[in-house]
Amino acid sequence: MSSIAVVPGSFDPVTLGHLDVIRRAAAIFDEVHVLVVHNPGKTAMLPISERANLLQQAIDEDPTIPSNITIASWSVGLLVDYCTEVGATVLVKGIRSQIDIAYETPMVLMNRSLANVETVFLLPEPGHAHVSSSLVRQVASLGGDVSDYVPTAVARYLETTRPA
Ligand code: PNS
Repeated sequence: MSSIAVVPGSFDPVTLGHLDVIRRAAAIFDEVHVLVVHNPGKTAMLPISERANLLQQAIDEDPTIPSNITIASWSVGLLVDYCTEVGATVLVKGIRSQIDIAYETPMVLMNRSLANVETVFLLPEPGHAHVSSSLVRQVASLGGDVSDYVPTAVARYLETTRPA
């Protein structure tokens, strides 16, 4: 049986840290679904469709990303409902610090309790430890250069549509 994992996130926008985790997940699992999900606790900068679009462009433009990746989005219902729909039993999350572990732990236990979906934590390259979508949004909105932190497709997009 093939192993299917879901890498969920807001991806608002996708960063090089996210791509690093996606690349690592794709080396472990047979199939990886990168899922743009609505986070009820956050106000998003970009609509889900735009986030998924940028993710797809970033993956298409990166020759180091393997081909066993599907981009999808999920804006209604539980994350585990998507997992059930596609037969995924594992979620993959990137962890940069103890703060991320504290943030993720209740979600790990809830997703396991809801649908027996387990979560695997992967550590990205330490060079990405300070990179987050929220800081990228802030730096970009103040006119800073974010090209070291995001895929080229996102840097291009942010240059032409400076976020509020
Ligand atoms: O990139 P983020 O914002 O840290 O990702 C968080 C996300 C979107 C994965 C999380 O908010 C989520 O799982 N949302 C789906 C809602 C859900 O299923 N909630 C119940 C289980 S925790």
